[in-house]
Amino acid sequence: MAENPLEKHWLMSNPLLRVIRKVAARIYYDTLIRKTQTFGDVTWLGKPVWQNVQDLWTLQEIICQIKPSLIIECGTNRGGSSFFFATLFDLMGTDGKIVTVDVEKLHDMSHPRITYLLGSSTSDEIYHQIKAMADGVKGPILVMLDSDHSQKHVAGELERYAPLATVGSYCFVQDGCIDTEFMYRKARPGPLPAIEEYVAAHPEFQVDHALCERFVVTHHPLGWLKRVA
Ligand SMILES: C[S@@+](CC[C@H](N)C(=O)[O-])C[C@H]1O[C@@H](n2cnc3c(N)ncnc32)[C@H](O)[C@@H]1O
Repeated sequence: MAENPLEKHWLMSNPLLRVIRKVAARIYYDTLIRKTQTFGDVTWLGKPVWQNVQDLWTLQEIICQIKPSLIIECGTNRGGSSFFFATLFDLMGTDGKIVTVDVEKLHDMSHPRITYLLGSSTSDEIYHQIKAMADGVKGPILVMLDSDHSQKHVAGELERYAPLATVGSYCFVQDGCIDTEFMYRKARPGPLPAIEEYVAAHPEFQVDHALCERFVVTHHPLGWLKRVA
């Protein structure tokens, strides 16, 4: 990612203005969450996709850059994010496929690029199915964890699925905002401690801070784990 031009701006060299800017960003983010009801009613081509639209744009940029042959998604929900990936692959004309898993079936969608699995992402049965798909793929693999955001579950998903991300690609862990935003405090501990522990124990992954801060405010602090080795 390119350098952050904001860092060199004269407004950021003044410590007081730097603090004011940070406070303003937090107020904007809080307003954004409340106004969109945590992005619960966002749609992509008419289908519900439960994503912060700024983070979704970053995801689009990375998918276009990496051109994954497989995206592994934990947390299908109403199917919008996997549909988003599939339509990006359609537009890009690549061979990309998606496997997505949820404990509940909350949609009646289908797309030739998408395999829908039902069960817990951390169960042996689901893991072995996804691992077999990953083993059959020659190109890049991108992983996105967006299911149960509790620390324990995210830690379990990281152990299983992060190693399936290929070198140069990412394991994208969603919703670290649970641990930073007061309004989500009841869901703590969330993804952040799981991410921090995983990265500390796995030097083959590094947090891509520039990507996390791409649009200043994000639902996914420390969420973009780049596989570097
Ligand atoms: C935040 S939603 C996913 C949103 C979806 N990725 C999107 O962008 O539209 C989280 C989903 O994770 C599912 N979930 C919860 N626990 C799970 C588990 N153990 N394994 C798989 N999915 C789980 C929930 O049923 C819910 O539909």
